[in-house]
Amino acid sequence: MNERTIDYLRISITDRCNLRCKYCMPSDIESLPMREILTYEEIAEIAEAASESGIRHLRITGGEPLVRKGCADCIRMLKSIPGIETVMMTTNGILLKQFLPKLLEAGIDGVNISLDTLDKEKYREITGTDGLALVLGAVEACVQSGVRTKINVAAAEEINKEEIPDLVRLAEKMPVDVRFIEMMPIGYGKQFQSLDNRAILEKIRGLYPEIYPAERKGKAGFGPAVYYQIPGFAGRIGFISAMHGKFCKECNRLRLTSTGQLKYCLCYDDAEDMKSIVRSGMDKEMRKKRIRQIFLEAGKKKPSGHCFENPEDISENKKMSQIGG
Ligand code: GTP
Ligand code: 5AD
Ligand code: SF4
Repeated sequence: MNERTIDYLRISITDRCNLRCKYCMPSDIESLPMREILTYEEIAEIAEAASESGIRHLRITGGEPLVRKGCADCIRMLKSIPGIETVMMTTNGILLKQFLPKLLEAGIDGVNISLDTLDKEKYREITGTDGLALVLGAVEACVQSGVRTKINVAAAEEINKEEIPDLVRLAEKMPVDVRFIEMMPIGYGKQFQSLDNRAILEKIRGLYPEIYPAERKGKAGFGPAVYYQIPGFAGRIGFISAMHGKFCKECNRLRLTSTGQLKYCLCYDDAEDMKSIVRSGMDKEMRKKRIRQIFLEAGKKKPSGHCFENPEDISENKKMSQIGG
């Protein structure tokens, strides 16, 4: 255990998704009944209390957040909470172009778009859907709108080993950060062999020897990504080295699952049952007091690090889509 500042909360608003990525939700996982899922009002209550305890940044995740009706309204509601500085979203991009005007109007501060390949057939093979053109259209629409845009590439031997240079080039003309995420052995991710981000960086260095570390992390994002710049590129190259670069000591985040479990770490099933608090008979001030207390104590309860290198120690059995990435 060690203590740190917790100012970032990932909120999964649904376990459902419109894709079937092989490393996440390869076939139909039974969706949870809606009554099990926190309502937007319940999410707002938790976020308000969280903000009163120091949470400043929210990230909306899924499943795929845009498949839940009213997602943009949820973002508007969260943006209006005093103390909340940014609300961003992680999405697979399929519905993003369609919802972008509403999201911008709601005040969204940034989007992270998942895109593991630029090959149409490969995209269909990985995700089960012929959706590459839709995602690329969404990336372009985001860039044109000026919203902060990052591309998440889940990096694995079986998926995109040969495509690193093509994916890197997305950041050449467009001001998007392309980020390589080492595949983690969570849920179906266990069936894939993660690429090593150190090897990816060396491969990129071979093509662009002038690549250099970008500004320090604090300014570059709120998560564990480390960024590099290639001279002449509009965007940056980022690395989320979950497997080969343990960043847990600096981890500033908690995760709220769609069923209201507040998780301390991806790896372990330790969680606080926030749903039972917001649905308890206590009056609102008492509920919020209890929630504030949980957030204030969270820094002490976070484990000191993940255990991906010893998969038998992973106590979390939920799928990535149920945790929210
Ligand atoms: P930014 O603030 O934009 O950097 O957000 P982010 O990288 O935290 O969010 P995003 O949802 O885009 O996450 C990208 C990948 O990083 C996903 O695969 C996450 O599971 C992974 N990730 C994010 N935070 C953590 C973390 O604390 N630990 C681990 N192991 N992985 C994380
Ligand atoms: N390891 C690493 N990243 C993963 N994602 C989903 N499952 C895994 C995993 N096992 C990524 C998705 C998306 C983000 C939310 O998490 O590709 O970009
Ligand atoms: Fe859906 Fe994202 Fe999981 Fe793919 S990785 S199935 S897009 S939740």
